[in-house]
Amino acid sequence: MTLQQRDKKHLWHPLKQHQLNPDSLAIVKAKDCILIDEEGNEYIDAIASWYTCMFGHCNDYIIEKTYNQMQQLDQIMFSDFTHEPAVKLSEELIKILPKGQNKIFFNDNGSTAVEAGIKMTLQYYFNKGEKRAMFIAFENGFHGDTFGAMGVSGLSVYNGPFEDFLIDVKRIPTPNSSNIQDILNQLKNIVSNYNIAGFIYEPLVQGAAGMQMHDANGLNKILQFFKKHNIITIADEVMTGFGKTGKYFASDYVKTKPDIMCLSKALTAGLIPMAITSCTQDIYDAFLSNDIAKGFFHCHTYSANPVACATAIAGIELLTSAEIQNNIARIIYKHQAFNKRIKNHPKVKTTRHLGVIFALDLNTKMERYGDLRDKLLKFFMQKGVFLRPLGNTIYIQVPYVITNKQLEKVYQAIEEALEIV
Ligand SMILES: Cc1ncc(COP(=O)(O)O)c(C=O)c1O
Repeated sequence: MTLQQRDKKHLWHPLKQHQLNPDSLAIVKAKDCILIDEEGNEYIDAIASWYTCMFGHCNDYIIEKTYNQMQQLDQIMFSDFTHEPAVKLSEELIKILPKGQNKIFFNDNGSTAVEAGIKMTLQYYFNKGEKRAMFIAFENGFHGDTFGAMGVSGLSVYNGPFEDFLIDVKRIPTPNSSNIQDILNQLKNIVSNYNIAGFIYEPLVQGAAGMQMHDANGLNKILQFFKKHNIITIADEVMTGFGKTGKYFASDYVKTKPDIMCLSKALTAGLIPMAITSCTQDIYDAFLSNDIAKGFFHCHTYSANPVACATAIAGIELLTSAEIQNNIARIIYKHQAFNKRIKNHPKVKTTRHLGVIFALDLNTKMERYGDLRDKLLKFFMQKGVFLRPLGNTIYIQVPYVITNKQLEKVYQAIEEALEIV
């Protein structure tokens, strides 16, 4: 029996209607940008396995550092204990995080990083004796699948069964050059009618919405508004963090910095799951008290797992290296050239790119998980390229170590796909 056949007996996959789509492709090996399936077929991983493996799959340097840590200390509770990898990671991360971030709290995945950010925000005001329970978020944002994260996500097409249990959120459009004054008026109206605790946002690029991009100046004005009204801002950089936008963090493009940040995915380079919620000293200080209950009683068993911390430190070393920074610059240059080549194609409605992220919208209308999207996905796989369209958006988010030849193959596959839609 093949892995694909054995899979069906006991496994339940995420984001899948098993009755309509029972097969899952079995991948047996991955190296750099290449995935190999159980029949030996090779695919270029053009979305870095959901934007995680940005330094390439099974990166030798990261594996070596992780293996060394495994021989030293595997796991220790992070409640009442500490260890070198967590301390070192906090030091290295603070060096590259946007100004103001000063405290590091560990989680297991992007959703729980957001969950902790939401809870920190609510408890910040609770500890100060203020009752604030409502959030503001962008339309079509995505922040994860736990309850708090689902609640603040605007992209809730499949969240029907849970809608009655979600936190209260007011939604605003993402800013562009023409709507910023309308948004600010809308915000004035919201804050004069409701007690708003926080604003959560994916800075500059909304990943799950189809790599939708917005204006840094407009975002800055929105953040300034929240600062003025003492409303906590949470930058969800789970997708955008660690170099994808061309800077270490998307927030680096925006003058006004967040109070809280959510990090995961490329944090541990695709090797081990881990996440972080970072915050300013001011947020942290609101939890200091002689009253135990004012502390942050939120914990995951594997918090700050030493092995995952060692992986993350190795990832930061690579990210800040001249080699990776040069690679990012090379990919940006290639994307610019590809954009010129494709933007006027009759099947292309719009294109956009920032850093190593490139996206185009097709002129055709498509269901998010419908037939045409499945046909495209299959087409790309047959061409040896793993791309996963989101509705009518085809996007690329390649590992930084992709070669020019591999990148050209990805571009060509997209051009050929335009002929079949
Ligand atoms: C911006 C953003 N936030 C949160 C999440 C949730 O992360 P996870 O899937 O690790 O729970 C995602 C996942 O794609 C994301 O893109």
